[in-house]
Amino acid sequence: MKKEINAFDYAGEVCKAMPKGILMTTKNGEFTNTMVIGWGHIGIEWGKPIFVAYVRESRHTKTMVENQGEFTVNVPTCDVDSNIIKICGTKSGRDMDKIKELGLHLVDSNVVSVPGIKEFPLTLECKVIYKQKQDLSAIPEEILKRYYPEIPGADFAGETRDFHYAYYGEIVGAYLIED
Ligand SMILES: Cc1cc2nc3c(=O)[nH]c(=O)nc-3n(C[C@H](O)[C@H](O)[C@H](O)COP(=O)(O)O)c2cc1C
Repeated sequence: MKKEINAFDYAGEVCKAMPKGILMTTKNGEFTNTMVIGWGHIGIEWGKPIFVAYVRESRHTKTMVENQGEFTVNVPTCDVDSNIIKICGTKSGRDMDKIKELGLHLVDSNVVSVPGIKEFPLTLECKVIYKQKQDLSAIPEEILKRYYPEIPGADFAGETRDFHYAYYGEIVGAYLIED
């Protein structure tokens, strides 16, 4: 069962859940992949409701969202099994089927072809309307050093110059998955 909602009524829940990790889900053909995101924005541009997700170049999610142009944002409404965050935040869909491995339950969306995930019931359905590679010359040195070091493995997550792309998803639907 799904209950349609106004995404902005739940903006606080989305933002408060982000530091612990929410999910960004994509689908190519029959394969659904999901990854943890900790950064994002919900708001308005061009008069449209928008969720902006920041995806590093190396993520399989980047390939998938580029191929298909849609994603869902999946937000927990209670505590989630930390193993889900661990696997979805460290393993790549290039190497494994995370949904299958974790036994996550997919639920068809109303508008986009990418499903929601029952275990993360608050769902935003997004269609990419704009994307932008972050402009290195506009990023402060301190942030460049911390998040995009030139020396492999020098930052906290072992990343190198693996930049983020901002994907602006128009929120074309939003729902809560209920039992
Ligand atoms: C708490 C947390 C937040 C994260 N936030 C992001 C993010 O906002 N953007 C990003 O590109 N990767 C982020 N990651 C890393 C990805 O989730 C991770 O690299 C994932 O394995 C990529 O999966 P994929 O290759 O299937 O896309 C985060 C990881 C964790 C644990």
